[in-house]
Amino acid sequence: EKGGHKHWMSKEIHEQPAVLDASLSHYLADGLTEGPLSEIDLSGVRRVVMVACGTAYYACHVAKYWIEQLARIPVEIDVASEYRYREPPIEDGTLAIFVSQSGETADTLAALRYCKNQARTLAVVNVPTSSIAREADAALPILAGAEIGVASTKAFTCQLAVLACVALKAAADKNRLGPEQITAEGEALRRLPALISTALRGEHDLEALSRNLSEATDILFLGRGAMYPLALEGALKLKEISYIHAEGYASGELKHGPIALIDESVPVIVFAPSDALFGKTVSNMQEVMARGGRVVLVSDREGLAGQSEVWAKVEMPHAPDLWAPLLYAVPAQLLAYHTAIAKGTDVDQPRNLAKSVTVE
Ligand code: F6R
Repeated sequence: EKGGHKHWMSKEIHEQPAVLDASLSHYLADGLTEGPLSEIDLSGVRRVVMVACGTAYYACHVAKYWIEQLARIPVEIDVASEYRYREPPIEDGTLAIFVSQSGETADTLAALRYCKNQARTLAVVNVPTSSIAREADAALPILAGAEIGVASTKAFTCQLAVLACVALKAAADKNRLGPEQITAEGEALRRLPALISTALRGEHDLEALSRNLSEATDILFLGRGAMYPLALEGALKLKEISYIHAEGYASGELKHGPIALIDESVPVIVFAPSDALFGKTVSNMQEVMARGGRVVLVSDREGLAGQSEVWAKVEMPHAPDLWAPLLYAVPAQLLAYHTAIAKGTDVDQPRNLAKSVTVE
């Protein structure tokens, strides 16, 4: 049933190229002019609000960068348990997006109910028959297939895939990108499943590194731009299944406090593809190394070249800048998985956690 894998989590990590490919084919059919998004007109959207919990919230956090950059629409993100009780004002022209693997998370459902009749509501869910899917004005299934491991993996990347398509559709409807640019970005996005397959072939190296990480009591994750939410996701995944204390920070925030934690005993995992922000992240990395911190740099060949001071390197294939977060989810997942295996914890059923949080 687990297809030769020891755990559901491992099976689901390895399913990602196939499920992502299917999801992207579905949503990108004929350059967005066919398929489920063709029926959704985003030309009148003036603001986007995105609400979710946990890993699904981090998918929203990545999508904020995409929608703001591609469609130039301001995006507010919030965790559902805060959003629902904050009762924020909702402006005309708001599109409210609720992201949930299960579609049953109590706080996310309550936030959706709060927004109904005030905003257009869109659900991005894995379970099309779920409450959140049924109660929203429209639902976009992520097509990840059943996710059994408690730690969300393939649902996260499939959420990212669907939200990337929503960002492209918003850019098209807002006339920010022409049809050729949409096609080009869509094609770039469709390369991600193959790049993820390549990254998965590097699993063995991550396994060795994870044995080392399993000795640590605290681990930091850093990233800039759309890699910042990946740092948060990497830390969440690691703490939930290995029980090692981990925190994710925006690289630029390091000097505003967390740098006080750095010494030889604290591994610092840096997600930094060689994009426009790379140089900035390298200077943050140097600040860490100057204090004896052990940096694990996750980057592409270009980014890793010349970084001889780092403690460990994890090589990713080169990805299109915009869509790199889908690829960098893989080392985040594999590091958490193998660190947990090295510690001997139950990765599919971590203590204190439930797959679907239907109570607040
Ligand atoms: C983390 C994880 C949780 C869920 C969160 C939301 O690996 O699985 O953080 O992402 O409980 O669940 P859904 O997406 O079902 O609303």
